[in-house]
Amino acid sequence: MCSTQPFLGIKLVFLFIILYSSKISFAKEGVWPPSMIKNREADMRELGLQIPVDILYNNNGTGLNNAVVMFGKGCTGEIISSKGLILTNHHCGYGTVQGLSSMQNDYFAHGFWAGNPQQEIPCRGLTVTFIRRVENVSDKILPGIADTVKDAVRDSIIAMRCTKLEKGYKYTTGMDAIIRPFYNGNQYWVIISETYRDVRLVGFPPNGIGQFGGDAENWSWPRHTGDFSIFRVYAGSGNKPADYAKTNKPYEAKEFFTINAGGYKEGDFTMVYGFPAYTDEYIYSSQLNQVAGIVDPIRVEARTKRLDIWSQSMAQSRDIFLKYTSKRAGVANGWKKWQGEMHGLIANDVLSKKRTYEQEFQQWAQKDTETDYTTGLLSKIQANTEASDNLVRADEYIKESVYGIEFIQQGGTMDKMLQCFRLKMSSDKLHDTLKKQYAAMQGFYKNYDATTDKKVFVALMPMFMEHGAKWVPEYYATEYNVHGNSYARWADDAFSTSMLINTNKFSEFISYAKQDDSVVIMGDPAWQLYHSVTVIRNNKIIPKLSTYQIRSRYLNRLYMASRMRKDGGKEMLYPDANFTLRLSYGKIKGIDPEGPEGYSYQTTLDDVIAHDNPALDEFKVPEKLKMLFKKQDYGKWKVNKTVPVAFIADNHTSGGNSGSPVLNAKGQLIGTNFDRVWEGTMSDYYFDPSRCRNISLDIRYTLFIIEKFGNAGWLLKEMKIVK
Ligand code: ARG
Ligand code: GLU
Repeated sequence: MCSTQPFLGIKLVFLFIILYSSKISFAKEGVWPPSMIKNREADMRELGLQIPVDILYNNNGTGLNNAVVMFGKGCTGEIISSKGLILTNHHCGYGTVQGLSSMQNDYFAHGFWAGNPQQEIPCRGLTVTFIRRVENVSDKILPGIADTVKDAVRDSIIAMRCTKLEKGYKYTTGMDAIIRPFYNGNQYWVIISETYRDVRLVGFPPNGIGQFGGDAENWSWPRHTGDFSIFRVYAGSGNKPADYAKTNKPYEAKEFFTINAGGYKEGDFTMVYGFPAYTDEYIYSSQLNQVAGIVDPIRVEARTKRLDIWSQSMAQSRDIFLKYTSKRAGVANGWKKWQGEMHGLIANDVLSKKRTYEQEFQQWAQKDTETDYTTGLLSKIQANTEASDNLVRADEYIKESVYGIEFIQQGGTMDKMLQCFRLKMSSDKLHDTLKKQYAAMQGFYKNYDATTDKKVFVALMPMFMEHGAKWVPEYYATEYNVHGNSYARWADDAFSTSMLINTNKFSEFISYAKQDDSVVIMGDPAWQLYHSVTVIRNNKIIPKLSTYQIRSRYLNRLYMASRMRKDGGKEMLYPDANFTLRLSYGKIKGIDPEGPEGYSYQTTLDDVIAHDNPALDEFKVPEKLKMLFKKQDYGKWKVNKTVPVAFIADNHTSGGNSGSPVLNAKGQLIGTNFDRVWEGTMSDYYFDPSRCRNISLDIRYTLFIIEKFGNAGWLLKEMKIVK
């Protein structure tokens, strides 16, 4: 069944009106669905495109869209040979490779390079999805439903129609079909796809290349990360998707990317073809204020405290380092991005730009005679958003400060155990279920340090107690009081009496627990901390908040509908990103980043070596790479006595674009997208071509590492490389 959630959001277009109607004639903003790029052809050509857009996407099923895959659950990959070779980011393959690695085969430390197809390693659970066709089916889904029909009614009619239509598409194409909302639910599009389930690991550089610069360089420019990995997709009979089988054959790709190793220069046309997951470009000012003024600051404040404590512990102990490194990367990725986002939104004065557009919209709305809802729309959005501000704030404090304490988060597992007692199971069944739940907790224990977490408790709990207002549970207030208003004493007491931390006590409880023993869990401070705040959240915050969110979704849909109609619909609006296939285009362009580095658009291997620091794990260049550098053994990939590593351009990208093919004016592969610059992470809400840059890995660095570092030159033979 199709999802009717149109990904919360409204839209912003004054940018086009203010900027583009004046002197800048080329649009670089936009994540365009493949079926819309036909309409962008003139603009793209003017900017430098040298091929018909039909080569990128067409209705005959022969477009280059067939060479772009959704990689796993959140990334993009590209097909680079007729035998199904896939190029994506190192950080996109990371989770899969973690599952394949062991002490004996530590691929993070040593890398992995298959010497031939037989050595490629099956990756159970990993899938890649090809998008075969995308079509606007609004005329089959929306007829007869007035804009103002409430979402509950509207959604159920739409869901019925979608199910039926999807069935038809699946039957006629023999492929998967899903219908998704675009433009905040004002249009519905069908996506015809095929998901392949036999994917194998082919090449993976060690972290010293693939993660070089780590969190320190994340979201920033200049960049020195060789962020790539290589996989291959296998097919069953008829080249169709199949479960893993030894007998499966490499997927025969009719469309794959030609690699251009001839380089590029500043100003050259570029495109990124991939799966951006989320943008909210048309967002109304007060909603943006909620993001940048409430949500982002709370997240950043809480994560700064958490990361500081984690980093101190990690620096003191290798054991804690290994336990927390992956958790840290995840928490820090958002933390750094949101700081850039707030900074960029303020530096660009985005709120007042939005308000200027909204005033203009209002003037138009006043005169609009086509519908009766436009006039009062903005004030309704404003009122609805502002009414929810306090709930949003409270919820964010709970999520980031209270649930940011692992001890309390795990109280949630105890809560699930408690449910089993309440189900009045037989003793055998109860033991069995509890044992399974406890076994599942071992993953948590493996990467947990209670001493560190206790410090996090002391740092984060005051945030909630001071800002949680009327949502602070009675239990919290009492405990704080009982412990002489000392967070340290409160934490000491909670951590030393809870069986969550005392695993002997906990496992003993699991093996002897009887029906009446639910009181043991209910007396545990970890459970009480989790439970008391969660009850308040579930009863007093979430229900009210979702009422506002439902209304906001409804109003946002009407706002988008109006914007699409405004001024005769002459502005061409792109639908916000929703993790469907999109193309963005722009130019290779440098930036003068904030900080000491100075203007540049490209980095090289010499820069990598200059950043080598054996004392810091994140900046340790592998010995073999240093040898190649010393001997200048760069083979065909030598450019100006070095090898280019990364470059930036002003393509509009977002999370999910990791691993996306970066193409030149001929549609040939020149790199792999992997990040954005810090100054421009606000592009999910506001794209400013003067400060937004996507960061890509130069294909020549990838080829150099494969051939010279990985000794896997056999892979290059199946690629089509031109200059
Ligand atoms: N910032 C990039 C993205 O959002 C890369 C993240 C992985 N790298 C890292 N150092 N944590 O996915
Ligand atoms: N690194 C991001 C990802 O994994 C892409 C960078 C971005 O958000 O622009 O999707």
